[in-house]
Amino acid sequence: MWRATRTRFPPGPSEVLKRWSFGPLNDNPLEYFTNIAREYGDIAGLRILNFKSIFINHPDLIEEVLVNNARRYSKGRVLRANRHVFGEGLLTSEGDFWLRQRRLTQPAFHRARIASYAATMVEYAQRMLDGWRSGEERDVHREMMRLTMQIVGKTLFDADVDRDAQEVGKSLELLLEIGANFRRTIFVPHWLPTPANLRVKREVAQIEKILYRIIGERRASGRDAGDLLSMLLAAQDEDGSRMTDRQLRDETITLFLAGHETTASTLSWTWWLLAQNPSVETKLHQELDAVLGDRPPTLDDLPKLVYAGHVITESLRLYPAAWGLARLAVEDHEIAGYPVTKGMGVTMAQWVVHRDTRWYDAPEEFRPERWENDLLKRLPRFAYFPFGGGPRQCIGNTFALMETTLILATIARKFRLRLVANHPVVPLASITLRPRHGVRVTLEARQKEEAVRFSTGEQSAVAN
Ligand code: HEM
Repeated sequence: MWRATRTRFPPGPSEVLKRWSFGPLNDNPLEYFTNIAREYGDIAGLRILNFKSIFINHPDLIEEVLVNNARRYSKGRVLRANRHVFGEGLLTSEGDFWLRQRRLTQPAFHRARIASYAATMVEYAQRMLDGWRSGEERDVHREMMRLTMQIVGKTLFDADVDRDAQEVGKSLELLLEIGANFRRTIFVPHWLPTPANLRVKREVAQIEKILYRIIGERRASGRDAGDLLSMLLAAQDEDGSRMTDRQLRDETITLFLAGHETTASTLSWTWWLLAQNPSVETKLHQELDAVLGDRPPTLDDLPKLVYAGHVITESLRLYPAAWGLARLAVEDHEIAGYPVTKGMGVTMAQWVVHRDTRWYDAPEEFRPERWENDLLKRLPRFAYFPFGGGPRQCIGNTFALMETTLILATIARKFRLRLVANHPVVPLASITLRPRHGVRVTLEARQKEEAVRFSTGEQSAVAN
């Protein structure tokens, strides 16, 4: 197991050097970083073999790294080690190349553009509900994965990926399961033909096959669908050259993976939290009934679905799909007087900061009400950062918030989700935070319940 030794690295009165084996990080990284923060406070030095890293746990220090000194850092080792998956896509590329691609991609995420995706999001959610029956048992995580994948496919690539959903879902599950082994991810080169690497290669090839098909079909048709894929296909360098299939593959796989698994997990955690907090669930239903009555939500309803928004905000606080971030220093500087030398890592964990009693009362409790009266504005900027921050902030944050709120409203209007007893719901902290064995639920139609209330003479705001 691991040993922690206090050493004067970096120099200073309260600094520590923690020697760490990967055991606890692999087994339970959430607990691992929580314990470091508890034991060492806002800043701690970590070392594995020759790799030195600093763990920071104060919002101001996080802002220093992600915003004020962003250009002094590149992405961390875990993301770098996943370059064979994401290639030179937005999440993993660096420098001028990244900036160019970010500018190119940005228009697909402008507010007005995203607004045009709202109807698709609700339509796909409704279509899923058409197949749901009261009393049925389902893995709601699987359902959310499929739904959010269809939505990303349709909105960004104008492609129907329904028939691919199962394959991609399985491949992704395996990739994340393997990716949760940080020791392997960081220290075993991806080109070594180990069994895990060979599996990763196979699963990536599965996903690639689908993306190359979508790219090929669009190139062949020459159609301008006005979506992200058309924008990428039309984009030209100053010398007039266009993106190669490989570049397109990197951008599309990044958006495809980053854009659906994160929102699916956020929704899955939300269902799990709601099922355990009936008073929150009731309040959400009351809002949906009052705002929507018997119709599905639209974009225009979003400003009125205030509580639903708080539910998502709170869910992202407790179960942030991106549970931690890492950077590598590309030049020497210092954080709060600590020398950071080139090549050193910096790690921060939303999971830990979002559960810190300095920023949140009863942080372990699911209380959407805490976001009333503009809590966000009163908190230090990086006490809540589910989408990161600075230049590398999530490009899909508005997309994700709109999508999760609309899907939550569409489903919760019709169904209550009850947890299946004895099914373990356990977080798997891989690149993202997902429920390892899914979330098994029993569906309970709300209309039926309302109808019963009507027939017994009870009042209801819902006229389904
Ligand atoms: C609840 C859902 C989501 C969460 C919690 C989330 C979280 C994050 C975080 C924390 C980062 C920054 C990573 C870093 O600094 O190292 C990030 C980057 C990114 N996200 Fe998201 N994300 C979500 C949804 C989405 C969606 C829907 C899309 C696209 C459709 C997307 C696409 C991306 C991309 C392309 C980047 C890289 C941006 C860049 O470096 O320029 N994400 N996301």
